Amino acid sequence: KKTGKRRVRVYMDGCFDLMHYGHANALRQAKALGDELVVGLVSDEEIVANKGPPVLSMDERLALVSGLKWVDEVITDAPYAITETFLNRLFHEYNIDYVIHGDDPCLLPDGTDAYAAAKKAGRYKQIKRTEGVSSTDIVGRIMSSLKEQKICEDRNGTDVKPQEECQSKVSHISQFLPTSRRIVQFSNGKGPGPNARIVYIDGAFDLFHAGHVQMLKRARELGDFLLVGIHSDETVSENRGNHYPIMHLHERSLSVLASRYVDEVIIGAPLEITKDMVCPRFCIICISFKLLAIVIGVLTCTHHSFFSIYFTLFFITTNFSRVLK
Ligand code: CTP
Repeated sequence: KKTGKRRVRVYMDGCFDLMHYGHANALRQAKALGDELVVGLVSDEEIVANKGPPVLSMDERLALVSGLKWVDEVITDAPYAITETFLNRLFHEYNIDYVIHGDDPCLLPDGTDAYAAAKKAGRYKQIKRTEGVSSTDIVGRIMSSLKEQKICEDRNGTDVKPQEECQSKVSHISQFLPTSRRIVQFSNGKGPGPNARIVYIDGAFDLFHAGHVQMLKRARELGDFLLVGIHSDETVSENRGNHYPIMHLHERSLSVLASRYVDEVIIGAPLEITKDMVCPRFCIICISFKLLAIVIGVLTCTHHSFFSIYFTLFFITTNFSRVLK
């Protein structure tokens, strides 16, 4: 597919409301079917007419979709149904070769297939829908989290429901099973260059939103390589309350990894950034430790019992680069 003269341009449309890793995975698969991926963002009005009101505005949805590493161009105000007129526009104005959609049926309110025209023209391709997540499911999670929280607050201090029962519900809600393959598919697979300035930023990144995109973009601009620490579910629950996070650790990790500004993630990073974790390249303490380690290593090279000391010190001072290797 990548050997022809002209680059293959593929089009995937959608609402991308409350954007999640299922949407990101759909766009990742679509991009793999061509060279350039053009996303059609369905307008707020069209979503209202076909599905009911979206949770996020067009601006927020646009920020989220544009921030994904697989997206090359975005057409705003795309129609919900690909009519023959719009299909011709896609072919002639945007030079689109194929229209792509997930393998779930997409019906218009009148029961007809929203992709019928593209299928008829022989320009339709399908990708595999990601199981276990949808915008509706996320809204459901938020609602049940708020409901449980309210019940626990109302009953707090009474005998009706013991506090122990008001534990985090995140594990009961998510059906997502992380595989190493999926994480690899979302990763850049590259470490930092030899003189790269590594920027570290951490957080919960629950319900990944437009504010997160902006924050990651700014963090990336501060250096050459952005490493993002994603707090564990337990850490988030301890800090935000038992009914958070809404999305569990691996779901949050995929959403962050899908960002074009992110180079690497630590899945389950600690809340506290310790000295041994972030050791800047030219940090005086680190250099002193390294020199001390080398001196001890050289002086004790014949005494095997001292080797452990040498390696421990070296290990402490190079911990951060060890994570990124
Ligand atoms: N998609 C997917 N896996 C999911 C959710 C969506 O592959 N779990 C794909 C859809 O098949 C579509 C694209 O993502 O090709 C955009 O979907 P969208 O229009 O936003 O809506 P839905 O398919 O209704 O998804 P959701 O309910 O999550 O909004």
